[in-house]
Amino acid sequence: MQERWTEAPQATSRPLLRASLAVALALAFMQVHAKSSDDGLAPTGRWEGATSGSASTPPMGWNSWNAFRTEVDEDKVMGAARVLVDSGLAKLGYTQVILDDGWWLKRRTSDGRLQIRTGIFPSAATGGKDGTSFKPFTDKLHAMGLKAGIYTDIGRNACSQAYDLHSPNLPQGTTAEREVGLEGHVTQDINLYFKEWGFDYIKVDACGLADFVPGSDLVKQQNYRAQAPLIERGAINRTDIGAVRARYEAVAAALKAARPANDYVLSICAWGMANVRSWGKDVGNLWRTSADITPSWTSMLHNFDSAAKRALYAGPGHWNDPDILHIGHGAFDAANPVEVRSHFSLWAMINAPLLVSYDLRNGPAALLDVLGNADVVRLNQDQAGHQGVVTYDSDDAQIIVKTLGDGQRKAVALFNRGATPAPVTLLAGHLKLSGSAPVTLRDLWSKQTSTFTGEKAFTLAPHETLVFEATGKRQLEDGVYLSEIPGSINVVVDGTRRPQLDPTVHRMIDPWSSTRSGGARPQYAGWGGAQADATPYGQALQVAGQVFDSGIGVLSDSRLQVKNDAGHAFLMASVGVDDSTDNTRQPVRFYVYGDGKLLAESAPAAFGAKAHALKADIRGVKIIELVVRGAQTDGTPPVLASWGDVLLTRVGSGR
Ligand code: GLA
Repeated sequence: MQERWTEAPQATSRPLLRASLAVALALAFMQVHAKSSDDGLAPTGRWEGATSGSASTPPMGWNSWNAFRTEVDEDKVMGAARVLVDSGLAKLGYTQVILDDGWWLKRRTSDGRLQIRTGIFPSAATGGKDGTSFKPFTDKLHAMGLKAGIYTDIGRNACSQAYDLHSPNLPQGTTAEREVGLEGHVTQDINLYFKEWGFDYIKVDACGLADFVPGSDLVKQQNYRAQAPLIERGAINRTDIGAVRARYEAVAAALKAARPANDYVLSICAWGMANVRSWGKDVGNLWRTSADITPSWTSMLHNFDSAAKRALYAGPGHWNDPDILHIGHGAFDAANPVEVRSHFSLWAMINAPLLVSYDLRNGPAALLDVLGNADVVRLNQDQAGHQGVVTYDSDDAQIIVKTLGDGQRKAVALFNRGATPAPVTLLAGHLKLSGSAPVTLRDLWSKQTSTFTGEKAFTLAPHETLVFEATGKRQLEDGVYLSEIPGSINVVVDGTRRPQLDPTVHRMIDPWSSTRSGGARPQYAGWGGAQADATPYGQALQVAGQVFDSGIGVLSDSRLQVKNDAGHAFLMASVGVDDSTDNTRQPVRFYVYGDGKLLAESAPAAFGAKAHALKADIRGVKIIELVVRGAQTDGTPPVLASWGDVLLTRVGSGR
């Protein structure tokens, strides 16, 4: 438990002093907020979350990469597609069949048209002036009730051209012919893929912006055109975030133009680099939050961690992507059923895409049974789109809770990260359910039901994840905490001044460089962004000694939008400067807007001052906006601000 202060340190009993303090705080605000017209904090009253593309729930299907790398071919892909249909997985939602790297032969120099490697995709040998076409291939998939995905790169060259140099299926020809990526061809290629060839999904990699470095052996030996890297892997300060984002925005715009009916999926594959964990939601439908997964337990932890604390940055239409499932290989093959179920359960709980990537034609039935667990798939595909929130966190064990549908049901995962048995006690409070009424748990793997009141103790086997659907008496019978509904929240401005690397992602031994460097470093920006039930830096929410188990932790100068889809009547919160703030000197103010109009505001709140009660009447309001303004001056860090117990409710009294 947190230590509680008995007294706020700056509290004073002298009314005069208090009054002059209030005047001083207000003055500080007037001075700094003269400048704030274009800081992104002004409410707009209109939902600013991206609505392009078609991924109302996390994409599901099969991807060729981990199964075959570049040694993919038409039979292998069609074989996987056939198993998806015949096994019933397609009916459960596994419909995307994504062809990854390795399909291309060259870019024709006469007109820039991409040519397919027909030696491995025979149906693409359509002849005529176009040479090759994937239309017969996508037609076949569509006729099976499936969708078709393709792979490209945002730069001139793709990842296999840097990392799979012994592949028999690398693009061929002159330097120009081997420039198969989107650079300089965005509209042409997107039109080809989506208007002519009929693809539904595109994965856009980023090696072209990172790996073809002037003067490098790769460029010299392979005769590639060099490009000063826009992405320096792991070095956010030397990465041109704006340029990388602009490249992907151009692709998004071309897709919108090519498919005005919005029937496409854009998968951004920049591996957590270039601060994509913060802006991916505004540009694509899913974005990789980390490096490529490998079939080892620690790689799975690394990739899971890269997405697990980003619940407020995902929601219907846009999903954190910790990479394709590595089920079927290494630590997740059929001989490791505990690890297979854990990997799958965790991806389901955090609304990760469920993309299988082993040779389905030759896989064991036991794996299909895991993938076919309809209860676990249903969690992931829940229409409300609330990513699970890590409600108990440690390096040994975690408890992740996901609100389902209208909030009457919860899913909870108890996850043993370690290699020894872990004692885990689940509290009704973890589920935001009453501790004095029975809670029913249905185990989604064993299908057994049990009941407890207050708390229940478990011992998890090494690497085990238990997943339950839970029902009970909600703590809030007439409403919902905002941290229960992260999918209804859009973080428009998160207040981070410059991207910081996230130190909380499990630092595995890098599978590519081993222990040749000094160690595994934090790699992914996004540290300090808004969090559910925690401060932006993962501390418990606490204002003047008062601990909030529920709430939203933000930085000053942030703006969040919340959809009031359920038509709640009041927003209530206890707001203040968080006790863990580094910047203890500057006050902040909290504002609540409804459809663009100011509904409630706090007085300036200082470090150490008790939480202010805020209440806003949101009857009839569609979009609520939560703004925290700080007395921002250059050189000072943002203030940690806590929306303690922030909730929406139907009733305005009793609190
Ligand atoms: C990168 C991506 C992988 C895969 C390969 C293809 O490494 O992150 O998912 O697409 O490229 O070369």
